[in-house]
Amino acid sequence: MQGHINVAGTNHHLVDQGEGAPLLLIHGFPLDHTLWQGNLSMMSSSHRVIAPDLRGFGQTPPRAGTVTMEQFADDLRAILTVLEVKEPIALCGLSMGGYIAFAFQQRYPERVKAMVLCHTNPHADAPEAAQKRHALADRLLAEGHGPLIEAFLPKVLPADAAPSVVEKVRGMMEGTSLEGAAAALRGMAQRADVKPRLPLIQVPVLVVSGAKDPIAPPADVQEWAKLLPKGQHIELPGVGHLSCLEQPEPFNRAVVPFLQAL
Ligand code: MLT
Repeated sequence: MQGHINVAGTNHHLVDQGEGAPLLLIHGFPLDHTLWQGNLSMMSSSHRVIAPDLRGFGQTPPRAGTVTMEQFADDLRAILTVLEVKEPIALCGLSMGGYIAFAFQQRYPERVKAMVLCHTNPHADAPEAAQKRHALADRLLAEGHGPLIEAFLPKVLPADAAPSVVEKVRGMMEGTSLEGAAAALRGMAQRADVKPRLPLIQVPVLVVSGAKDPIAPPADVQEWAKLLPKGQHIELPGVGHLSCLEQPEPFNRAVVPFLQAL
């Protein structure tokens, strides 16, 4: 099904598709669940795939102020309760979705069977980066989507991305609520450094990076992925920050066998 469900007073929009072991897809910033459009069909051939629009993104309404990674994780936990998903899940998060996956795993370790961490990192923002996020949050509330798109579109896609992919990503950014984007920027600015916890994550973790990703460069990803006791790292050639959308087939070939082997 695709539609809205009421979760603690907020109408969360999501796709819930397929049957089998549950898989929760967590999109990045400032995007929505359609980031996974090229992956849903293959993933749902073996899994029950739940792909929500996070609070303030896509068709899920925002909350003003700050939304922390922990609050996003609590929303996801509440969504699983409403959908009556009781067994441990595989979590697949991209970038901010990875930050949220780390928060979810810390808060609800018994609910996590495995993780796929795409184009993300366990680092906290340096003070200067955090300050830039706050400044961008203020600017976009005053000026609209322009500063958001200027700041993120060139970073998330390589210069040679297909025009259809560029338009798709621009559309997702334009569809993001300004209040929602500002709240998530403030939340990301205050996220914790997760590196000390990586050796404690005892479930299988597939870490995916992209050769042309300036936000999560493969050399850095390789370093922190080594700290995961059951981690494995795959670097996809020819893609930037959004491999699942840029080149869905290679992404699916890397991720789906990992999920099916769990
Ligand atoms: C994302 O893709 O979710 C963002 O680039 C994350 C970030 O800005 O740190």
